[in-house]
Amino acid sequence: MLNFDDDRLMLKTNYPTVGSARVRIEDKQVINGKADVNQLVPFKYHWAWDKYLAACANHWMPQEISMARDIAQWKGKDLSAEERRVVERNLGFFVTADSLAANNIVLGTYRHITAPECRQFLLRQAFEEAIHTHAYQYIVESLGLDEGEIFNMYHEIPSICDKDAFLLPFIETLTDPMFRTGQVENDQKLLQSIIIFACLMEGLFFYVGFVQILALGRQNKMPGAAEQYQYILRDESMHCNFGIDMINAIKEENPHLWTKAFTDEIKSLFTQAVELECRYAEDTMGRGILGLNAGLLKQYLRFIANRRLQQIGLDPLFPGAANPFPWMAEMIDLKKEKNFFESRVTEYQTGGALSWD
Ligand SMILES: [Fe+2]
Ligand SMILES: [Fe+2]
Repeated sequence: MLNFDDDRLMLKTNYPTVGSARVRIEDKQVINGKADVNQLVPFKYHWAWDKYLAACANHWMPQEISMARDIAQWKGKDLSAEERRVVERNLGFFVTADSLAANNIVLGTYRHITAPECRQFLLRQAFEEAIHTHAYQYIVESLGLDEGEIFNMYHEIPSICDKDAFLLPFIETLTDPMFRTGQVENDQKLLQSIIIFACLMEGLFFYVGFVQILALGRQNKMPGAAEQYQYILRDESMHCNFGIDMINAIKEENPHLWTKAFTDEIKSLFTQAVELECRYAEDTMGRGILGLNAGLLKQYLRFIANRRLQQIGLDPLFPGAANPFPWMAEMIDLKKEKNFFESRVTEYQTGGALSWD
């Protein structure tokens, strides 16, 4: 049972009292901060606030995208048996993955982060995870897939199950109501979980799936699903970059956490994650589709893993790994690829962020 003090710790709020000191920038910290989390300003973490604004400017909703051509293709003979398997196994991972992501943020990470600018981004991110789950459900429903089969794949398909089993202990660390930061071992656990979530879940485990559906879209197959995945990829790439900025800020404020033992453990987790994702690629790809095969996807995963390691200040684990899919970079930066799928203006911006040029 939680007592009053525990509740107060989790909220990390200083109750307002007349005459209490004003929030000072120097008291703000990403973790274990002493400043009241209810005061967004004075700003200290501008990178977090800027990403929050950018994420809001990219708002989209799944039902705005037509699935008519996808439905016709799925019911017709446009897709091979291999392509159908790719779509189903792909959705089998994603339909539950973003719920895990949302729960990890809302019930875990959010409670332990004391920078209100970061919390603001995490709130937006949590809503985007709900939109992603909505998008996958919308695709499953539009195509008339067996919902029971797709939504249970994370219990029933070993290559999907293994990825989730790898992630769950790190999610459980943060969502444990008794977990507290404030001493080295737990602060390292928090940092490790954030690295696993940003670099390996959002930054690696999603990428085989993105490449698969976007490669179909490039061939005008499943264009509605591909367009949604393109928006999701853009969101996830922002989540991943935000997570990496947060990791680097925590490192900078708490250099004592970044020990050799800690980074050795991180590297070993990267190796395990790349192996798990390679197995998922093999399992979903079968004989390959559209010039994609498990071998190319493995190369891509090694390339991405190196990039994530470098982004958090570690040496690459797979020297010489090249990017076999340079077009993926263009997918992330939608501004370069307006009307890629010719269905609508893909540079989606809302309200005040629209520019009328
Ligand atoms: Fe997501
Ligand atoms: Fe995400």
